[in-house]
Amino acid sequence: MKLTRRQMLAGAAAGVVGAGGIYELVDQLTGGAPQRAAGGKLLPEQHLLDGIRIVQSNGVEVLVPPLHHEIVTAHVVAGRADLLDAQASLEHVLAGLDADYAPTPAGLGVTAAWGLPYFRRLTPAAAARYIPYDRRAKKPVIFDTERFQSDPPDTRLESNDVAFLIRSDVRAHIDDASKRLRDSKLFELKSIRRGFAGGGFDGGRSLPKQMAEAAQIPGADLIPDTAELYLGFTSTQRAGMGPGTIANFETLGYVDLRDHDYFRHGTHMHLSHIHEDVEAWYLNFDFDERVATAFRPNLDVKQGTQTVRQGPQDVSTVADVHRDYKSSGRIGHSAAIQTTSRLERDVAVDGVVYVKGTAIPVRADFNTLDNPFNWSVNLAEIGELPAAGVHFVVFNPTGDDFRRNRRAMDGQLPDGTIAFTPQDRNQGFNSILSTTHRQNFLVPPRVHRSFPLAEL
Ligand code: HEM
Repeated sequence: MKLTRRQMLAGAAAGVVGAGGIYELVDQLTGGAPQRAAGGKLLPEQHLLDGIRIVQSNGVEVLVPPLHHEIVTAHVVAGRADLLDAQASLEHVLAGLDADYAPTPAGLGVTAAWGLPYFRRLTPAAAARYIPYDRRAKKPVIFDTERFQSDPPDTRLESNDVAFLIRSDVRAHIDDASKRLRDSKLFELKSIRRGFAGGGFDGGRSLPKQMAEAAQIPGADLIPDTAELYLGFTSTQRAGMGPGTIANFETLGYVDLRDHDYFRHGTHMHLSHIHEDVEAWYLNFDFDERVATAFRPNLDVKQGTQTVRQGPQDVSTVADVHRDYKSSGRIGHSAAIQTTSRLERDVAVDGVVYVKGTAIPVRADFNTLDNPFNWSVNLAEIGELPAAGVHFVVFNPTGDDFRRNRRAMDGQLPDGTIAFTPQDRNQGFNSILSTTHRQNFLVPPRVHRSFPLAEL
């Protein structure tokens, strides 16, 4: 199915006011939500979803993410005087959603993440006392993000008060949640971001492939039919994702909760939007180069493989990255990041042993056709045509933990830097990626998800 440019624009315009716009295509293409367990446990963590399906792909266990995603960012309308009322109102809305939907991909996942502008403007004294402290970085777990070495100079560093990440296999559940949040009158909307993930594991043509083709994205015809993501490789290998509560503030001991349990079961969230040049990826890199770039140089992978093992035994050390760089002149995305994103030794926490090489970040990114957003208060920043990209969402125990990993992606390793010019094609994916926006957020535990610290 192809959309004309006019249909596309009409869809995008419709998307502003809650209808799915072009993303309704996702349901048409997949025939609706896949089979999932309906029940599910409401966890103390807002960032974890129960009932995630696990499938085998190329003999590797893979987590199947929810089909639809939306992120709403906003400014808080309330002043300090009416913050307690706002807290009660938002909690009422969120509790209503909890009551109406199972906390699983079949139901709905809503994660409220709060930005520094909220804490600075509305709860400065309590924030100074309660925001957890990163022992390794010797600073609070949340801080203003930087532009990274491979980011374009015009990457916008955002200052939203709040971001709601809304996930479900059913588009209507997301539309309902998004509408209830907007109807609360608690927020001035700043942006709406939409997208999709998955498909393809059950043998059908994947969603990114079909959506890219429908939107006439340059290079769409080159995407493998069953690819989980536009760039042709699976990224949700079970072993490549932080297990259980590993990214919680309290789990690995990176964080001092400062004698308060207020933010226990909370985490840090980084949110960015990144354009992907799909055509350049497939035209300028052959399959072996794509493997070297996405994973690591000198990795022997059978032609056409989409899911590559990422277990603790496959993790690259700093020495491996240097050795591979010496022999090939390049670094791989996953290998370079593994030097900082995986556990350096076994860690036992409350009877759970996380073995050396276990992944720490819990990624929740999804592909998009937004350019760069589905809607923005700054209408001038919305491009006319759909564009391939990723809304990158990731949970780490601290903002500095994300920063270390993101720097490693650019070759800035724990023992020194492998120098690349920005956009160098030997520097992982960076030559075909272009970041438009970034911001750090704090995700409180579910119990304090509504206007955290307002009551203090
Ligand atoms: C296949 C396509 C992939 C794409 C397009 C992609 C893209 C990205 C991007 C853009 C970032 C940085 C986000 C930012 O700049 O804000 C990132 C980070 C990361 N990626 Fe990938 N990636 C892919 C595959 C993988 C794979 C296969 C793995 C490993 C299983 C992986 C592991 C990671 C990790 C651990 C991070 C850092 C997250 C953090 O520190 O919190 N990625 N990826």
